Order: sequence, then structure tokens, then C-alpha cells
Amino acid sequence: MNKNNLTRRQFIAAASAGSLAAAASRTIPAYGDITNKASKLAILGGRPVRTKRFPRWPVWDKTEEKSILAALNSGRWGRVGVKMVSAVEKRFAELMGSKYCLLVHCGTHALHTSVHVLGIGGGDEVLVTPYTFVATIDAILLEDALPVFVDIDPETFQMDPDKIEEKITENTKAIMPVHITGGLCNMDKINSIARKYNLKVIEDACQAVLAEWRNKKAGTLGDLGCISFQSSKPLTCGEGGAILGDDEEIMDRCYSFHNFGRPKGKFMIRDRGDYPILATKYRVTSFQAAVLDAQTNRLERQFERRAENADYLTSRLNEIPGINPRKDYEGTTKPTYYAYAFRYKKEHFNNLPRKRFLSALRAEGIPCSSGLGTIGSTSTPMNKEGLIEDALNSKSFQKIYSKGRLNKYREQNHCPESDRLCKEVAGFGQSLLLGTKRDMDDIADAISKIYENRDKLA
Ligand SMILES: Cc1ncc(COP(=O)(O)O)c(C=O)c1O
Repeated sequence: MNKNNLTRRQFIAAASAGSLAAAASRTIPAYGDITNKASKLAILGGRPVRTKRFPRWPVWDKTEEKSILAALNSGRWGRVGVKMVSAVEKRFAELMGSKYCLLVHCGTHALHTSVHVLGIGGGDEVLVTPYTFVATIDAILLEDALPVFVDIDPETFQMDPDKIEEKITENTKAIMPVHITGGLCNMDKINSIARKYNLKVIEDACQAVLAEWRNKKAGTLGDLGCISFQSSKPLTCGEGGAILGDDEEIMDRCYSFHNFGRPKGKFMIRDRGDYPILATKYRVTSFQAAVLDAQTNRLERQFERRAENADYLTSRLNEIPGINPRKDYEGTTKPTYYAYAFRYKKEHFNNLPRKRFLSALRAEGIPCSSGLGTIGSTSTPMNKEGLIEDALNSKSFQKIYSKGRLNKYREQNHCPESDRLCKEVAGFGQSLLLGTKRDMDDIADAISKIYENRDKLA
């Protein structure tokens, strides 16, 4: 039967049937024109599974052009007093189910502002995952607080909620769950621990726009939620970020902090001049808001497409020994995909190193990497990155923290599950999931082709 005539359900049934056949013969079914075992790997000079490009990112059309021109022609290019920026904030808050939204220049600024306004500073500890992007950690260290690393759950790749309590001390002030790759942390457990110990929850939802935990959007599940609109994100305006929250005074503090400390709304300090607090400037431009507004129009359609393709791809990748896609907790009503991540278990691939596996996959025409918006090219887990020691040795840390405390911190800074994940993780960016089912088959066929020919890559 021609695969293009199959419904999605038939596809998955076909994939499952293929699974049984595969188990019997140790041959993984291919859905494209190739027979995986017989065809030569592209990295060894064979024909690649795919030569066609995957969908480009970002996606734009005349809507963005019109929106940017409207901002340009308004002559109001900043943010203060610009109605268009406030209108986009209102629209995004409504979409996310949050009372308030503040646009800022980027996700990093959203995180830094949140840590600052919640009063976290020198001597405090914030619980966080080591499997994240550096900005999460920067936001804590920039306020002279200590990021205390909680190891990850090996199946979901998220902060392991069952390892949080053992890390709480009298100095712990907040938990910072990071919904990594677009999957959600276990927010039932995290919020319940936060309530028990009176901790703040700052969600780093930079990679998880529109994902839902029990029908509530990521970024609206804690005290403050941070979103990124940086170029690779599913909702983008090049650079941009947002803070979501329901508490008016805290949100006014956020506004004030991102606007040189000028008083705002409920956050009013009188008799201390025009700049009553030390702050910074993290304001967005009207051009960023204009692009964001236009991009929001197609956000939900793209979200559905990614989810459907990811679902199908997972059903195919589950067929291949040694390829273990990231899982979601049961409370995740809608996962999203900033990246499609899986563990690559080299022992199933004749001990083929991950780097070589990824090169072989790229040669087959599948853009892929081990980075996925988290670790860099050296695959160093964030708790072992140089910035930690740099901060601990800085003048301010040396003055705030005793030598004994810093040494104890160093001794306890171990997260073996995250170390293992950083060595095994692989995948690709969200834009590949905007393609067709046939594109998903190409990805799965390329991986199974490498699996079938693993002994030829020694
Ligand atoms: C998990 C995470 N946190 C924070 C950030 C920072 O966002 P931005 O790049 O918009 O500053 C990013 C984005 O790159 C991210 O992936």
C-alpha cells in the first residue's frame, strides 16, 4: 500500500506491526523508497535518504511586513506610552491565561527581572536544573544568589521533583523549574513543595510557549513565568521576552525594574526622587512587538502541526533500539516542541560515538545536533560550566559567602543523571516538525538506516 494513502491511525498501526516484524528479524521497517539495510550510508558515499530542505524558520509573510510598517509609520519606535506594545502585552496575557504580561528585550531579561523583583539576592539559594540553557543560571548568579542544582529525571529530562526536598536549606528562597525542550516539569509536585517551604516559583518557560500542565499554560503555573521570543523559538521576533504574572504589585515592580526604576502603578515610592530604586533598562521596541503580533496569528496552527508530527515520529522512533525519545509526565495535557529530543544509546549502535552518529544523520539530510538550546559544543552540564567557578571566585561572592559554605557547595554540586544525559542527548529543532508526515518518515528512515548499517561505521 502506498504510505501516502494511509490515515494517521493506520500509519501508527503499520508502524506497530512493523515493530513486531522488526523484533523477529532485527530489521527496522523503512517507510520511504529505500530498503535501509541494502542501501549504503551517505557518509560512506551512498545516496542520502533526503536531499530536500526541511521547512525554513522563521516563517513570515505580508502580515509581518504590514505590522512592521505600521510601527515604522507611527513614528513611535520605543515602548513608553506606545499603545501598540501594551495591546500586544494584553493579547499575549489573554492567550496565555495570565492577568498581566510585560514584554522585555529577551528571555534572559525576563528571568533576571523576576529573580530581582522577588527579592532574591546575596546569600540566597535557588533550586534549578543543570540541564538548561545558560541564561537560567546567569539570572541567579547576576543577583549574587547561589544556583543549587537538582538532578534530572532520566525519562522526562526535567528537574526531578523527588530530589528537590533534599536540597532545601534555610537559605532556599525559590525553585526555578525549566520546561526544557518544551516538555513540562511536574508542576503538581513542585508547587506543593514550594507551598510547604514557602518558596517562590519562577518558571523558565522560555522553550515552552503554549505547552499546558492540566490545561494551564506553562509560564502561568508559578509566581512569575518567563518566555523567550529569540530567533529559534516557536514564537519569535528575533529577540524578545515576556514576564507573566497575576500579582499586580509584583508586575508593577517588574515594569519599574525594566524602566530605570521609575515608579509604576501600585509600586510607588514617594519622596525619593524620580529613580527611587536601583534598576536597569530592559525595554522592548515597537518593532519587536509588531513582529510578535503578526507571528501570534499562526502560532496555534504551528503548535498543532508540531504536536501531531512529533506524536507520529515518536511512534516510529520507538521502533529503533537505542533511540529513546523524551517522555512527558501524565499531567502534561499539551506538550510543545522547542526541540525534539531523544537519548542516543550507543551500545545499541555498535558503540558508534554520538558525534559520528550525528554526522551520519546529517549526511542523510537530517539537520541534527546534541545542543538543542541547552548544552554547547563541549556538552558540559550547566553545573560544571566555567561561569559557576567564575562567580564563586568573584569579589562579591567571596565577600558574601564564607569559604566553608562555598567549599560545601562545590562538594555537593553533582548531578550524575544530567551528566549522563548531556553525553547521550540528541535531536533537532522545532522547525523540522512543521513539515509533513513524509518528512517525519525521512527522519525515522535515516536513523533506522544508520542502525541497520551500524557495523559498517566502526
Ligand atoms: C531555557 C532557556 N532559558 C532562557 C533563555 C533565554 O532567552 P533569550 O535568548 O531570549 O534571552 C533561553 C533561550 O535561549 C532558554 O532556552
